[in-house]
Amino acid sequence: MKGIILAGGTGTRLFPITEGISKQLMPVYDKPMIYYPLATLMLAGIKDILVITTEEDQKGFQKLLKDGKDFGIHIFYTVQPSPDGLAQAFILGEKFIGDEPCAMVLGDNIFYGNGFNEVLENATINAKKGKATIFGNQVRDPERFGIMELDENNNVISVEEKPEHPKSNYAITGLYFYPKGVAEKAKKIKPSKRGELEITSLNDLYLQEKNLKAEILGEGFTWFDTGTFDSQLDAANMIRTIQNNKDKVICCPEQIAYYRGWISQEQLGERAKVLQKNSYGKYLQKLIQDTK
Ligand code: DAU
Repeated sequence: MKGIILAGGTGTRLFPITEGISKQLMPVYDKPMIYYPLATLMLAGIKDILVITTEEDQKGFQKLLKDGKDFGIHIFYTVQPSPDGLAQAFILGEKFIGDEPCAMVLGDNIFYGNGFNEVLENATINAKKGKATIFGNQVRDPERFGIMELDENNNVISVEEKPEHPKSNYAITGLYFYPKGVAEKAKKIKPSKRGELEITSLNDLYLQEKNLKAEILGEGFTWFDTGTFDSQLDAANMIRTIQNNKDKVICCPEQIAYYRGWISQEQLGERAKVLQKNSYGKYLQKLIQDTK
């Protein structure tokens, strides 16, 4: 199973902040935004990850994440020359994906909550069986998102991108699992009215073939699309509150890598040393103490 983090885009919604830096490199409380989607793919057990960025921002991501060794994974990089739509990621990543299933997460989406492991496992099993999976979360403002309409058994009836009159309030979050052959499928999509290869059009192809499943992120699950000033601050505050209450660091790629045996205690120790001046580094140190 391969994974893609889509971290391109112009970031115009966050200007002037993002005039000089990529949105996904900015902090959400104590870690760069991209750590959160990275943690999501790692939780799904994915170790080969392609990070897609704009050309000018690629260096910053490479400086931050390097080749993935700190997290016991392999990170590759590709440029998206212009923001021509989310589904373009699979065409750009065709060689990287090869003949495997592939998950994609948007670089500005944060997922945290109970039962996430199980939901990710289900999606992985679906992908291996030739089915795509999208993840639904109830929202107050459905016209801002891709929307899924469900029947009483949570089967998907329709998917629509930012509908004026939403048929439900289940947003399609920025996490998608596809079976092998997704690049071929993405090539069949025609650009939308706004000129983009829409992820919703790709999902609709799977739906028409009866190969689209939905997983619902339940009550108490936290999902943020951190694309606005307010949602970014809300996310940072929420992460801070959760972490302080639980006395832990959440969505921590180093911890996931360590617990899964992808990095050794020595490697974690080295990483903790680099970060030793703050609570993040001290947390990594504590993980080592706790498992000694
Ligand atoms: O966050 C979930 C939503 O993400 C879904 O509900 C929608 O169906 C989906 O279209 C998307 O909506 P957004 O309005 O958030 O899409 P946006 O154009 O803002 O792009 C999402 C992220 O992907 C953003 O961080 C920029 C990046 N991006 C976007 C495009 C269009 C790219 O890297 N390349 C692109 O070509």
